[in-house]
Amino acid sequence: MKSVLIALALLAAAAGRAAAQPGYVPAPENIEARERFRDHRFGIFIHWGLYALLGDGEWAMHNKNIECGEYARLADAFCPSRFSAREWARAVREAGAGYLCFTSRHHDGFSLFDSDASGYNSADATPFARDAVGELAEACREQGLDLHLYYSHLDWSRSDYWPLGRTGHGTGRTGGGEWDSYLGFMESQLTELLTRYGPIGAIWFDGYWDRDEEPGGLEPERWNLYGQYELIHRLQPACLIGNNHHMNPFPGEDIQIFERDIPGENLYGYSEQDIGTLPLETCQTMNRSWGYRITDTDYKSTEELIRYLVRTAGMDANLLLNVGPRPDGSLPDQALERLRGMGRWLERYGESIRGTRGGVVAPHGWGVTTQRGNRLYVHVLDASDPRVFVPYGGNRLLSAVRMADGSAVRFTSTPEGVVLTLAGEPDPTDEIIVLTYKNEIE
Ligand code: GLC
Repeated sequence: MKSVLIALALLAAAAGRAAAQPGYVPAPENIEARERFRDHRFGIFIHWGLYALLGDGEWAMHNKNIECGEYARLADAFCPSRFSAREWARAVREAGAGYLCFTSRHHDGFSLFDSDASGYNSADATPFARDAVGELAEACREQGLDLHLYYSHLDWSRSDYWPLGRTGHGTGRTGGGEWDSYLGFMESQLTELLTRYGPIGAIWFDGYWDRDEEPGGLEPERWNLYGQYELIHRLQPACLIGNNHHMNPFPGEDIQIFERDIPGENLYGYSEQDIGTLPLETCQTMNRSWGYRITDTDYKSTEELIRYLVRTAGMDANLLLNVGPRPDGSLPDQALERLRGMGRWLERYGESIRGTRGGVVAPHGWGVTTQRGNRLYVHVLDASDPRVFVPYGGNRLLSAVRMADGSAVRFTSTPEGVVLTLAGEPDPTDEIIVLTYKNEIE
């Protein structure tokens, strides 16, 4: 193993790039940022770019085999009359979320920031002529939100993204073995993102899987992954790195991402990875799409979304819930309504989610638990049986109360745990019982 690492380091050095991350020891400020991240428990994802104009999701270019030169003409029409970074940040704050993750550049290759490394960006190539990331950075600061930046490894427009991966074959890219130039381009952009906008909470990579059919296509050296990670941590040691590669985390990553699955589930098919020890995050759509899709009105209800957040917190993970703004920059009404509804719920019950950790009691048929200090929050999501057995003993239970109204809940302690007896009409969204113990819950 050691000789492999040395060989890799030599290879990287030969290519003029540092492969520093295998021995990665997170800086103290990074460790602190991880806890801050976990405390948030809830963030909002925003997918927005030229594709919004087509109203068919962020994969429209690939799905419709749009030639990249023609696709780029969308930039001439990118003039979102209702874009307001402030309104976005306010909506995220009102939802009770602690951070906003924004697509600084998606697979189509268009950057939503003023980039010297590529003129194909919102400030230089559009009548809009504004730096969306810059405006968001300021708005997030005003609202006390952390700003995370999604950044695509994959690019359907650049000819130096070569050899092609398995997507975007119909976009007319002509290649020429300039992979190193592509790596250099990404390094320049990452440097811009980490030096021009103040503290960045996280870089959220995506698209690494594009080369999974190529021998060695998922080797970190191929992507200079460790060089990128080293660069990010050098520029901002506290910046968290996550990569939606659907694999077990690579050294240098600070959070582990699950796509459309709560850790431990694999309903969507991308979550075969192990649950590791890094802070966890599940990203999920509010309807069925990430980028704006004009025909997609299949929104999950506010109650469903709240229950999803609760179940995610019960697995000790954050929920990154997506919104896809319209082409004019406004947030869809259905999304706003849900953000507000979740915010109202969190105002009342946020104590049982934010700042908590997944509870000592693993998820059961009746629901999940979260905990903080000497309090265990029992989230009863299925109250069909009014008697709920919470298998946690060895710590004296002082009180059990309904979070909704503070009324006492009957309980019987046994050495193995406690049996709660729910009375009255339990809240069908989430009936929360707060158990206060004598000692800190280990
Ligand atoms: C997938 C999709 C991408 C989306 C991401 C969000 O990787 O390819 O379009 O941005 O999921 O999780």
